[in-house]
Amino acid sequence: MTFKLNTTVPWGRTLEEYVKMFSLSDTDLDKKLIGFGDGPASFNQEMTSNGKSVVSLDPIYQFSENEIRERIEETRDIVLEQTKYNQEKFVWSTIKDLDDLEDIRMDAMNTFLEDFEEGKSDRRYISHELPAKTYFLDKDFDIALSSHFLLLYSDLGLDFHIQAINEMLRVAEEVRIFPIVNLNGERTELLDDIIKNYAGKNMVLLQKVEYEFQKGANEMLVIK
Ligand SMILES: C[S@@+](CC[C@H](N)C(=O)[O-])C[C@H]1O[C@@H](n2cnc3c(N)ncnc32)[C@H](O)[C@@H]1O
Repeated sequence: MTFKLNTTVPWGRTLEEYVKMFSLSDTDLDKKLIGFGDGPASFNQEMTSNGKSVVSLDPIYQFSENEIRERIEETRDIVLEQTKYNQEKFVWSTIKDLDDLEDIRMDAMNTFLEDFEEGKSDRRYISHELPAKTYFLDKDFDIALSSHFLLLYSDLGLDFHIQAINEMLRVAEEVRIFPIVNLNGERTELLDDIIKNYAGKNMVLLQKVEYEFQKGANEMLVIK
C-alpha cells in the first residue's frame, strides 16, 4: 500500500528524550545507532552535531521538507487539542504544561526540518517503511531503536511486529522499543506473544527507564 503523508501525524522528540526513553549511556551514544520510525525527531540532528553516529529511517522521508512542514502545521493543533482533552493521562513534571509541550515538540521538529535536506544527502535520513527489508548488511549497527511506533500502534498486529523486529535484529545486535503501551495507554496486548517469540533464542527483558510522559509508560522492551 502506498504511504500517504496526509494520513500521518508527524510529532517529534528530542535527543534528551531519546536518552531517557532508551536509557542510552555515554557508551551507548558512542555506538552505531539506527532509529526506525524516527519521523521529525531532532534526535538525529542533535546526535550528529555532537559527533555521534545515527541513521534514521521513516516513510515520511520520501517527502520534501516543505511537504513535511505543511503536514506538521496542519496537524499540530489537532494533537495538542487531543492531549488537552486527555490531560489526566499524562505526567506533567518534566514537560510542565501544554504550552511547554508545544514549545518542546515544535523546537524539535523545526530542528529536524532545518537539518532534513542535508541529512538526506548524507544518507542520515532514509525513506523506509517497516517491515520491509533494508539494504543494510547483517549486524551493521549496534543498537536499533523504535520510539513511539512499534508496540504503540498495536493495531499493526503480531505478524507485522515480528517481521519488523526480525529486520531490526538482522541489522543490529540489539533492539530497544519504547513505550510498551498502546495508544490507549494500556500495556500492549501483543507484548506477551512478542516476548514468547524471542525468549528461546534471544535475551529479552523489560527495563524500567527514567522517562514517563504517558502515565505508566516507563518501560522499554530490549531484545538482543
Ligand atoms: C509518533 S511518530 C514518532 C516519531 C519519533 N520516533 C519520536 O518518537 O519522536 C511515529 C512515526 O512512525 C512512522 N511510521 C509509520 N509507519 C511506519 C512504518 N511502516 N515503518 C517505519 N516508520 C513508520 C511515522 O511516519 C512517524 O514518523
